[in-house]
Amino acid sequence: MDANLRQEIDKIVGLYEEKKAALLPVLHLVQDKKGFISPESEQQIGDILGVPVVHVHEVVSFYHLFHQAPKGKCHFSVCQTTSCALLGGERIIGHIKKRLNIKAGETTPDGKFSLSVVECLGACEIAPMMQLNKEYKGPLTIEDIDRLIDQNK
Ligand code: FES
Repeated sequence: MDANLRQEIDKIVGLYEEKKAALLPVLHLVQDKKGFISPESEQQIGDILGVPVVHVHEVVSFYHLFHQAPKGKCHFSVCQTTSCALLGGERIIGHIKKRLNIKAGETTPDGKFSLSVVECLGACEIAPMMQLNKEYKGPLTIEDIDRLIDQNK
């Protein structure tokens, strides 16, 4: 872990009475900097916060917002839960798979696009929707998907 990242982690940890309370913000920081949370990062974070690495791993693997492997430059996380499903989410997911020739959980060979299928993101009012990297987008149309893919090729 480089010195700058360690310094930023220490700054976050300093905001909390108990080091372990900083786990989520530290995970977000490491993912922002590295793109994903590797097993090595899990170990380092556990050591810094005094938390067993198995607990760090449980948190990383529980929340779909944390990635255990690198994702593409454009990461489509498409909601498949009821509101989105009823309003065409499956069609959106199917179109992305077809356009990019990947399955859910995969990244294109050029590293530009990843697709994840996720549960409700709490934005049912814009169904069908997805999270594109950190930004919510919806209600989605097939044309929106084509435009986003073409813009990011
Ligand atoms: S069901 Fe898709 S955001 Fe809630």
